Amino acid sequence: MDRTFVAGLPKAELHLHIEGSLEPELAFELAARNGVDLPYADVAALRRAFSFRDLQSFLDVYYTCMTVLRTAEDFHDLAEAYLARARADGVVRAEVFFDPQEHTSRGIPLADVVTGLSRAGEESAETGGPHLALIACAVRHRGPEEAVEMVHSLEPHREQLTGFGMDSTEVGLPPRLFAAAFEAARGLGLRCVAHAGEEGPPEYVWEAIDVLGVERIDHGARAIEDAALVRRLAADGTPLTMCPVSNVRLRVVPELAAHPLPRLLDAGVRVTVNSDDPAYFGGYVADNYLALAEACGLSEADLAGLAQSSLDACFTGAGGPHHR
Ligand code: HPA
Ligand code: ZN
Repeated sequence: MDRTFVAGLPKAELHLHIEGSLEPELAFELAARNGVDLPYADVAALRRAFSFRDLQSFLDVYYTCMTVLRTAEDFHDLAEAYLARARADGVVRAEVFFDPQEHTSRGIPLADVVTGLSRAGEESAETGGPHLALIACAVRHRGPEEAVEMVHSLEPHREQLTGFGMDSTEVGLPPRLFAAAFEAARGLGLRCVAHAGEEGPPEYVWEAIDVLGVERIDHGARAIEDAALVRRLAADGTPLTMCPVSNVRLRVVPELAAHPLPRLLDAGVRVTVNSDDPAYFGGYVADNYLALAEACGLSEADLAGLAQSSLDACFTGAGGPHHR
């Protein structure tokens, strides 16, 4: 498969944690700028820590590294670097997650985070780069009550935001616990998504749809284990924002050739290809298309279809069936 072909497909990136696009070189640059001590000697030592057993072993490194982000300028520079890479990969729109609680809990004002990210988005759009949309995510490990408080804190920034989502540690924290946060987010008119079925069981995907009322499922890899769920996702046209390289690196699947995406596609589910935390997993969005095509024998027409699905699954138009 040809990289030029893949990069030439206009596409949307719908599953990207902006903090997960923090490359080690920029992490050390920001650490020096802000006088933050990282518990890694240098870039090479940090890269050696990128050998993950599961989601949690990744999250530990990810939350540590994001402590170098302190000012609006830092968040701007982070998003600017990501958007330049996304542009080179043919991304025309990026709907990007960020974790407000992991910043406000360190004393960083939410306004600084939102302002820095938004300014990079405006500059990108003005210069022909990708349009940026922001999705604020509640981190499940801080629990349901904090998630509701976080949603309320979004209100002054409502104009800069497109969506609300949920990420971090999945197993043991079923979606239904967070129903009140999603209700509040919908009250603000935010488009709702949730990570589900990455490490958690298919039941968590059912709950995200039926209890939280989300419009898209982030990951959803384990949906393949439940035929009735696959039929439901296909019937409703609920998009899955899948991340093949991430799933291999966090051992959600044993190898790319075993990834459920082609089977879900065959079953009529609206799947999309995304990069999740590219600085940590070693692949931006075009790399994900290419690696998947190689491992699973997808054709150029298949990849063009996946790129079109990503554009169709964007939060540009009116809300879907669950958008109240
Ligand atoms: N899963 C859950 N939480 C996350 C991830 C992920 O893949 N990346 C960043 N936060
Ligand atoms: Zn993710």
